Amino acid sequence: MSRRILVVIGHPDPSPDRLCRALASAYAEGAERAGHTVRKIDLALLAFPMLRTMQEFEHGTIPDSLREAAEAVAWAEHLMFVFPLWLGTMPAMLKAFLEQVMRPGTAFAYPEKGEGFAKSLLRGRSARLVVTMGMPAPVYRIWFLSHGIAGMRRGILNFVGVKPVRETLFGMVANANDAKRAGWIKHMQKLGERAI
Ligand SMILES: Cc1cc2nc3c(=O)[nH]c(=O)nc-3n(C[C@H](O)[C@H](O)[C@H](O)COP(=O)(O)O)c2cc1C
Repeated sequence: MSRRILVVIGHPDPSPDRLCRALASAYAEGAERAGHTVRKIDLALLAFPMLRTMQEFEHGTIPDSLREAAEAVAWAEHLMFVFPLWLGTMPAMLKAFLEQVMRPGTAFAYPEKGEGFAKSLLRGRSARLVVTMGMPAPVYRIWFLSHGIAGMRRGILNFVGVKPVRETLFGMVANANDAKRAGWIKHMQKLGERAI
């Protein structure tokens, strides 16, 4: 079954040499080859302001430079985020993007009086987080409890209704030789083909 997939590249560095870009391209390539429809957002190429106030979050509008991106999030059935681990979590630029896009009215609705919980508005979507890092991936999982990823999964994506959120971690990326990288690219192509 063909799916609508949005690939979000959350790397602030626009250099084509970044591993994250190669992983994103491989995933998109695999997905398109299998007949899925893919759109891509590259955060490094977008200029958008930081969200600064609760007033803006609740009553403001999504900045013009992110309108198309917000529309793409609503369009997608599957979201693939790829980003490097920076200081234990996603780069600030990706968090700033999510603060702008995952707003009340767009991604969730505050509970009506008498209701207990916020309503998730992005239900029915799944996601994959692809994260590159300098440390070995098991160290991040076991010692750091994948805390940055847990925050993104539970605190943001599950909250707005996106479930399941799967993950792929690539560790010790600076030391990886060509064969290792080629294996990662192939793995991404396969996940893209399966749209998961
Ligand atoms: C500002 C910054 C912070 C980083 N913090 C971490 C970290 O907390 N843990 C880690 O394992 N690697 C860390 N790294 C290494 C990056 O995760 C690594 O360079 C990146 O995943 C490589 O992928 P890329 O080629 O797509 O940039 C950091 C790198 C930078 C530039």
